[in-house]
Amino acid sequence: MTTLIQKALRSRKVWCACFFFAALPAAMIRILLLFNNPDSSNFKKQSVGIFMAPEYNATNTVLSTPPPARKLGKCDLSQGDWVPDHAPPVYNNETCRHIQATQDCLGNGRPDSHYLYWKWKPRGCEVLRSDAEAFLRTMRGQKMAFVGDSIARNQMQSLLCILNKVEKPTNTFHSSDDKTNHWFFPSYSFTLTIYWSSFLVKNSTYTIPDADNTFVQLDLDILDPAWVESMAGTDVIVISSGQWYFKAAVYREGGQFIGCHHCGAKAGLKQVGFFSAYRRAIRTVFRELLQSVPAFDGVAVFRTFAPDHFENGGWDTGGTCPRTVPGGVAITEMNWMMHEIETTELEKVRAEMGANRISLLDITELAQIRTDGHPGPYRNPYPYAKDAKEKFQIDCLHWCLPGPIDTWNEMLMETLQQQMQP
Ligand SMILES: *[C@@H]1O[C@H](CO)[C@@H](O)[C@H](O)[C@H]1NC(C)=O
Ligand SMILES: *[C@@H]1O[C@H](CO)[C@@H](O)[C@H](O)[C@H]1NC(C)=O
Ligand SMILES: *[C@@H]1O[C@H](CO)[C@@H](O)[C@H](O)[C@H]1NC(C)=O
Repeated sequence: MTTLIQKALRSRKVWCACFFFAALPAAMIRILLLFNNPDSSNFKKQSVGIFMAPEYNATNTVLSTPPPARKLGKCDLSQGDWVPDHAPPVYNNETCRHIQATQDCLGNGRPDSHYLYWKWKPRGCEVLRSDAEAFLRTMRGQKMAFVGDSIARNQMQSLLCILNKVEKPTNTFHSSDDKTNHWFFPSYSFTLTIYWSSFLVKNSTYTIPDADNTFVQLDLDILDPAWVESMAGTDVIVISSGQWYFKAAVYREGGQFIGCHHCGAKAGLKQVGFFSAYRRAIRTVFRELLQSVPAFDGVAVFRTFAPDHFENGGWDTGGTCPRTVPGGVAITEMNWMMHEIETTELEKVRAEMGANRISLLDITELAQIRTDGHPGPYRNPYPYAKDAKEKFQIDCLHWCLPGPIDTWNEMLMETLQQQMQP
């Protein structure tokens, strides 16, 4: 009897430890999957088959001081401090109707508001409060497209809200799943669009012969036609990716299988891990963006990896993000690696091809500090008004609107205004 209990406890302990390491990426993917369909509010527990990369085994090791980010412009906007700011956000839940319900922290009853009163102060320069009117004037007659996953959509909706103050845009197109949306600002003839492509490269599915396991199959050297084919005539592409690469997948290059991430022994493929896959995919994005996208002669901005802030557990082991002031959590090595891959690959491509039409919107460090900026339980309306025992999904990955994600757009607007002005 005793031994049985001890055994059970031991195996439970082992199970917990394993789960803990799998939990962080699993949480992110689960939430990203959830946002596949923005209207899906029912959170069902299901097995998602996502694990850590085999080469990575230290989710919780933190770098006490992040490695210095590379300086890619005249003034490095990515390095700085969040300083208190008394000015209220430029929009709120009453003035902007483009806030997705799950990111409407004000409307969902988040009790603290201190998180709205910070501004990013880069060392050596200022990010000015966005002048939405000046931005729209600069962008007159232009087309700007966001490409990416639900975090890209989160950022696009923040920009819509910032610009909405000047003029209400019309929704000129939306796909049935609402993943593609076109907005038009008539007085400025400015078009803002979003295209869904969570991997940026071509994806399909792969079923292991003689097993019923199905995986994502990624062609790491081919851009996803879903967005590429829509980019003709686009002046600015704002592109990003990240967390979807934590998913179990098989990888191809030149039409040949080159390995996988957690595909199991039956697949007969080498475990190469997601870091190497992400590196190859990002290289493809930087190389091909200026060559293979038909009729695209505009500029591209790559938004760097957006870290999550689940603490004390994963998405279904009680992981939360209850902080109400910035800071307190150092970046994980895994998150920093994703950023490292993006910055090094851009430098390499620039050295090889002089790709000066691509720039980085380097938000990883400033977003890392904003542990207070996520909806947490307030992705749901008044979560604590209901039965306290009810379980609801906590979101420590996407960002409240208004919130620190607005700063990404202030940086973007400032950078573009400098770039686009004649
Ligand atoms: C984690 O990685 C280190 C260095 O690669 C290795 O020495 C160690 O055995 C690994 N630990 C586990 C639990 O796999
Ligand atoms: C906006 O948020 C405030 C503060 O939480 C709340 O009182 C108000 O009802 C909300 N308005 C809408 C339209 O959701
Ligand atoms: C995979 O590709 C298809 C076709 O391009 C696209 O519709 C789908 O959204 C992609 N899946 C993800 C997860 O990005």
